[in-house]
Amino acid sequence: MQKSSNVVWQEQKVNRQDRERLNGHGSVVLWFTGLSGSGKSTVAHAVEERLHGYRCRTIVLDGDNVRHGLCGDLGFSIDDRHENIRRIGEMAKLFLDAGVISLTAFISPMCSDRNRVRELIPDGEFLEIYCKCPIEVCEERDVKGLYRRARVGDIKEFTGISSPYEEPEKPELTIDTHELSLEESVEQVINLLHDRGVLR
Ligand code: PPS
Repeated sequence: MQKSSNVVWQEQKVNRQDRERLNGHGSVVLWFTGLSGSGKSTVAHAVEERLHGYRCRTIVLDGDNVRHGLCGDLGFSIDDRHENIRRIGEMAKLFLDAGVISLTAFISPMCSDRNRVRELIPDGEFLEIYCKCPIEVCEERDVKGLYRRARVGDIKEFTGISSPYEEPEKPELTIDTHELSLEESVEQVINLLHDRGVLR
């Protein structure tokens, strides 16, 4: 995979700790995972809004948006999803070094892909948040009409229907999005950030 040679790592004059001191909060990767329609983006954006109100530096990386640019060349085969998550993981790592709280909202269906990102990030700074919602509920919501199209075979390799979703084994947080209000879900994430010392 590694094709670059003759490259030397360039040390930074301003490092992550300097940036965190300036920001007044720690940086971390909040990795939301779950089925399409499980509430990943909704919760991530609502958490970001709250953090913005606390004057934190944040960014939401969202499947639909990133696939318009950086990952616009990728589809939904297992290999393409693998590459999608690899690129997002590398990007999240850059934001971590930039002192930012990044909130990623990707289905990221495979445990191995999520674990690979976890390994890329220093211990305790990759927080996996499982937006748990029964597929029946996601399908009933069908906000984008994708489940209906997947059921009639109009969309191939659709997560939960014709492509797998592997539940996280040990997520730092599980949010039952079909039982909790959005406000309650946000509160759970904010509590996690306090527990982990990201918010001081
Ligand atoms: S993945 O599995 O992590 O690489 O997917 P991701 O980058 O998060 O993109 C998921 C969004 O793409 C739309 N979409 C599909 N999802 C799943 N399977 C198939 N085949 C598919 N085709 C398009 C869909 O809008 C997903 O967004 P969310 O927010 O999850 O509903």
